[in-house]
Amino acid sequence: MPKKKYHHYSNIVFIKGDIAHTNLKNNVLDYVSCDQVIHHTENPLATMQELTRVLRGKGELAVYVYAKKALPRELLDEYFRKKTNTVSNDDMWEFSEQMTVLGKRLSDLKIEFDSPEIPLLGIKGGKTDLQRFIYWNFIKCFWNDELGLASSISTNYDWYAPTNAERYSKDEFLSMVSKCGLSTAFIHSEEACHSGRFEKN
Ligand SMILES: C[S@@+](CC[C@H](N)C(=O)[O-])C[C@H]1O[C@@H](n2cnc3c(N)ncnc32)[C@H](O)[C@@H]1O
Repeated sequence: MPKKKYHHYSNIVFIKGDIAHTNLKNNVLDYVSCDQVIHHTENPLATMQELTRVLRGKGELAVYVYAKKALPRELLDEYFRKKTNTVSNDDMWEFSEQMTVLGKRLSDLKIEFDSPEIPLLGIKGGKTDLQRFIYWNFIKCFWNDELGLASSISTNYDWYAPTNAERYSKDEFLSMVSKCGLSTAFIHSEEACHSGRFEKN
């Protein structure tokens, strides 16, 4: 736990709470870093506005949000956001293990192929590994040799279990940035995410 590790620093304060309602005063922080949390709140735009509210003028907000994937994967992910309410925790862990086994077995095949580009489904063309192709375009079935079984299962669970886990196109993310009255100091986009540092205007 960070508090245990860093308790001897007199200039660090640990506060546990809901980032959607920080209860902090306006314009009090120079820098806010929020890594992979905004998209789990009920109203991500309102949460980002809340984090902007507490920033001082010219202060920076660093944010990471999930990116939208190809259409078949989005449809399945969207289904799970609702379905998670009706699946027990034990069943969700079991499902996460099944997804991990699927990811490992596909990965073990070590099949590379040349996928056609299918723009209507958002599927990118080019040389790709079969497990990666299914992962990015159809269903999250995370497997990583270095992380091993338990961490890979947890990664799948972490994806499927939350009821709120919004994903964004780059334009949607930048529209949120602008609605918060922020301007872009740095932005990075890749298959998994959009992240960046944004300055309060
Ligand atoms: C994907 S994890 C990211 C954790 C960490 N920031 C990181 O990058 O490793 C999402 C975290 O957001 C937390 N979370 C979700 N909603 C929250 C909220 N409203 N306020 C504070 N934390 C929240 C969850 O408890 C979980 O630990």
